[in-house]
Amino acid sequence: MKSDQKKVLVVDDEVSICEILAQFLNKKGYEVFTAASGEEALDILSASPVDLVVTDIKMPGISGVDLLKYIKENQQSVPVLITTGFPTLDTAIEALKLGAYDYLTKPFHLEEIGEKVKRAMINKQLEEENLLFSKLVSLHEVTKILASTLEISELNTKFLDYSIRMAKADCGALLFSDASNKLVISEAAGQYHEKSYWMGQPFVAASKWVARQQEPLVLESGMESLPVGLIPIPSDLQSFISFPLKTPSRNIGVLNLARVAGRDPFSNLDLEIINVLASQASISIENVRLYQNIRDNYLKTIRAFALAVEAKDEYTHGHSENVMKYTVVLAKTLGLAEAELELVKYAGLLHDIGKIGISESILNKAGRLTPEEFEEIKKHPELGVRIISDVPFLKALVPLVLHHHEYYCGGGYPTGIAGEQIPFGARILSVSDAYEAMTSDRPYRKSLPQEVAFSILEKEKGRQFDPRIVDSFLEIMRPNGK
Ligand SMILES: [Fe+2]
Repeated sequence: MKSDQKKVLVVDDEVSICEILAQFLNKKGYEVFTAASGEEALDILSASPVDLVVTDIKMPGISGVDLLKYIKENQQSVPVLITTGFPTLDTAIEALKLGAYDYLTKPFHLEEIGEKVKRAMINKQLEEENLLFSKLVSLHEVTKILASTLEISELNTKFLDYSIRMAKADCGALLFSDASNKLVISEAAGQYHEKSYWMGQPFVAASKWVARQQEPLVLESGMESLPVGLIPIPSDLQSFISFPLKTPSRNIGVLNLARVAGRDPFSNLDLEIINVLASQASISIENVRLYQNIRDNYLKTIRAFALAVEAKDEYTHGHSENVMKYTVVLAKTLGLAEAELELVKYAGLLHDIGKIGISESILNKAGRLTPEEFEEIKKHPELGVRIISDVPFLKALVPLVLHHHEYYCGGGYPTGIAGEQIPFGARILSVSDAYEAMTSDRPYRKSLPQEVAFSILEKEKGRQFDPRIVDSFLEIMRPNGK
């Protein structure tokens, strides 16, 4: 038997018809199974999938229509050809409505049967190719989405959801290797979304096996021989698949998916699609981890810069961290996109970096500043820009550092620009910076009470500060809003 030989199941309670059809289709190159009843046909179908069913419509017990219904519910892609005598023509038409591919009236010519079987097979193949094509298109879309997701937890959630959807699974879990190479469940979703479910012995054993062997695993309900070390899947599941998640340099974890009892097993196409998705997603996950690592280091560097400023200016200890915190809360409330939020966050830490170039005697002066000294202080945004503009990963912060002392109505420093001309992030920084400065001790005065700071912000709405930003800030900071 050739492995690509198409399989046909012929069902008829008249044994002679079964035999004639079997002989004829066999000669045409098909592998043929015969069943003398609907019951026998169901047994054959549940033991091994076929490519086409030719069934008599009228049989004692399970009829051809019952068989058709079963196939449409469980093995949708298998075409069904109905054979019928003239008296049951109405039933045949009914069968077409239920999804039968075509019907033949008895007595039929064998050549006619041969032609219809051939056409049904071609049609089925076209449908499968269409299905494969649409799956490949969605796979391409999904891998693009995953590759553009920069938050690791969001990426994990999307990856698992898409895997469940694309494999038509009922549930799944995502496991990653920790520092000591132990697999830890990161996500679980679908019908069994409790992590505890996936901690069951069969899944733990299967996940370990896949991580060790680095190859996909398929387990079906009632499987008799299992690879060494594996445990049968629980009876509430029909089918379980597990894939290794690996990058070219290392293994990062395992993806588990399952279909509940009563569903079909996963098809080879499902397995192939998820295999590709898993390997693409592994690379995206690794990239995001590397990216986050870089971001963490970036933040550490910026913190070190901010601390260097604070070391010079004894009164501003913790100022930058606080400005950053207020800025982040404000930016989130104002609906800034992730990338912009990141910028204002770092700018919150780094806005006063230019003070490194200002004399300590001015920064720490206890009394009021002379006009000349104030002119010196006013240089810090531009000095800051000179420091960061040559550092590739800090360049994007330049507009925020430069304009954090501009006034909404114009006339601030260093450029005097106004309103919308001032970058939105710089307007946010201006509010959080001013509030932080007012509510902490300065060389020339003690900290102001919160309520006084609030009323100054209120008074400066539309003058020094963007009114919308002040309103949001007060709403966040005041226990009862206004
Ligand atoms: Fe400043």
